[in-house]
Amino acid sequence: MSILKVATKPFNDQKPGTSGLRKKVPVFQQAHYLANFVQSIFDSIEDRMSQTLVLGGDGRYFNLEAIQIILKMAAANGFKRVLVGKSGILSTPAASCVIRKYQTDGGIILSASHNPAGKDGDFGIKYNIGAGGPAPEKITEAIFARSKAINEYLILQAADVAIDQIGEYRLGNMVVQVIDPVVDYADLMETLFDFAAIRTLLARGFRMQFDAMHAVTGPYAQEIFGNRLNAPAGSLTNCTPLDDFGGGHPDPNLTYAHDLVESLYGEDGPDFGAASDGDGDRNMILGKRFFVTPSDSLAVLAANATLVPGYKQGIAGIARSMPTSAAADRVAAKLGIPCFETPTGWKFFGNLMDAGMVTLCGEESFGTGSNHVREKDGLWAVLFWLNVIAVRKQSVEDIVRSHWQQFGRNIYSRHDYEAVPADAANGVMQHLHQSFTALTGKTFGSYTVNICDDFSYTDPIDGSISSGQGIRIIFTDGSRIVFRLSGTGTEGATLRLYLEAYEPDVSKQNVDAQVALAELIAIAQQISELHARTGRDKPTVIT
Ligand code: G1P
Ligand code: ZN
Repeated sequence: MSILKVATKPFNDQKPGTSGLRKKVPVFQQAHYLANFVQSIFDSIEDRMSQTLVLGGDGRYFNLEAIQIILKMAAANGFKRVLVGKSGILSTPAASCVIRKYQTDGGIILSASHNPAGKDGDFGIKYNIGAGGPAPEKITEAIFARSKAINEYLILQAADVAIDQIGEYRLGNMVVQVIDPVVDYADLMETLFDFAAIRTLLARGFRMQFDAMHAVTGPYAQEIFGNRLNAPAGSLTNCTPLDDFGGGHPDPNLTYAHDLVESLYGEDGPDFGAASDGDGDRNMILGKRFFVTPSDSLAVLAANATLVPGYKQGIAGIARSMPTSAAADRVAAKLGIPCFETPTGWKFFGNLMDAGMVTLCGEESFGTGSNHVREKDGLWAVLFWLNVIAVRKQSVEDIVRSHWQQFGRNIYSRHDYEAVPADAANGVMQHLHQSFTALTGKTFGSYTVNICDDFSYTDPIDGSISSGQGIRIIFTDGSRIVFRLSGTGTEGATLRLYLEAYEPDVSKQNVDAQVALAELIAIAQQISELHARTGRDKPTVIT
């Protein structure tokens, strides 16, 4: 087997976004495109000789081809061993679990998360460090810089490895170890949650429905809920992973998980519903005719953490992304623990968790997790909720309402404007930037602007500064409007508008969020000139 040195030229668009490099499949299929990026990752790893990596993806179209290319490149680049999920499949949290459990030097995850898959769908790749989490910006910037200068990559000339069989294989001097990550992941969950209590809950007639949306969590859900928790047949749907996710959009929210939503809101619906996304790191939690916003979910889990074995000693702190509601801050204040506000993207939580400063983290984008791994974790959140329900013996709705009663309700919504022409979206952001001074102190109906800024974060551990993280318009009563451009889309720009209003009065908490936020929505439209600038009169997705 010989090592080929392949001459190549840089592509100028390989800048990792919020979560790795994401492009349409045909972009990744261009000659050298994937290989250039992989070599740029390898070139950015210090001392890569003899390192061990984890490799796998969410099973979407192009996953298998990409895995064979990466394995041959890893062998040519001097790696000692690569642990691959069977058939190339690893959920994102399972990849993090495996990196940590086997103390590997890092991993490569192939996923475009919740973006649609298939021949013309999206593909993605990201590098995770030895702690198990997404590479910090320092490394992603180095990878991008390298991708702009690259002129050759190394690849072993060899036959494909049979990754559909558990076992060890040689590729040049490197060992390819095909593993079953489902067991490792399920074992970790059993150390955190009271499986006996959840089993009893399900045995006594509490009905759950989990929708794997034909994405990566299917086999994990079958092992955990089916085999280990004896969930009755029919509790799990769409559990066969497909390379196009069945043509669906595996994003667990009220728009894209509509079958699940219909079932929970229908006659005689189950007591509990949940879904995860393409790569298994997101979660949506539903009760009977009740939707839990991800921001509330983080706050409720934090407030109830000591009911769950893995967190019974208490939590050290909480972190949330800036656009996530301040519901968790109120819990942290009550518990006397710190709450950190970070930029959007899980990579900002890693340092805080590694330093032992936070235990739970969350994002409004259906992401919740803890320091058990360094990624957000969809099934973990589902199990956490089931464990809390098993102990409290209350419905999802009762648990959330009693939480609001105690802490007040941070009424919250996100409006996404997808596939907006980039110029128009940038125009909205620029216009808002230019309005900071004019807006400050101005009154709109019942709201007066207190602060306008573009969010900037200084990492308390390494001092790195991340600026330009989203425009905040904060009113004197703490209500907020936030505007941000997505860093994960592959088509035009996605403009996100986040809205939050605080309601302490229990008699006013039972309202529809869109109704309660109507005034803020109108203010956001007015000050951003969104309609005039983008031609859009309503959002693509509301969550
Ligand atoms: C989106 C979410 C963000 C999340 C990321 C990866 O990023 O908003 O919270 O971390 O996906 O799942 P965005 O498209 O907003 O940059
Ligand atoms: Zn995801």
